[in-house]
Amino acid sequence: MSKREIIKIGHPTLSQKAEPINNINQEIVDLAKDMVETMHQAPGIGLAAPQVNVSRRLITVDLSVGEKKDELIVMINPEILEEEGEMIGEEGCLSVPGIYEKVLRPARIVVRGYNLDEQEIIIEARDLLARVLYHEIDHLNGKLFIDRLSPLKRRLLKNRLKKEMAKSEGKG
Ligand code: NI
Repeated sequence: MSKREIIKIGHPTLSQKAEPINNINQEIVDLAKDMVETMHQAPGIGLAAPQVNVSRRLITVDLSVGEKKDELIVMINPEILEEEGEMIGEEGCLSVPGIYEKVLRPARIVVRGYNLDEQEIIIEARDLLARVLYHEIDHLNGKLFIDRLSPLKRRLLKNRLKKEMAKSEGKG
């Protein structure tokens, strides 16, 4: 397992629609393991393959950030089957350093995907889990959380982002 580099806003892979995974081979297994390690080390509670510059439909989520094994979700080709209600909550993203904004999301979703053993998994999620799953699936469709803000808000964020990016580059 190895940690991979997380690409940042402005990188073209982040705005592409990711390709479905039709064959769970060693490359995909390795990618999933690396994503889990990268997410835990960041630390973050969710990661999508495009964030490590691989344009494939794979996400990892772990609200416990490595503390509880049964909270780790690795999902291939996730699809939202149902969404219901609304909730507003603050979000950030490892690819959008230093920016935290309130985002409107469905309050409850049902997601279907596959695990690394090619078994179908269906998750009914609310609250933070619903928010993170939705955020990660957005990444697979080339969408960042700031794309869900108003155009005015996005414009105001651009300057802040430039400063944050310069800071994080300075850190290496
Ligand atoms: Ni993100």
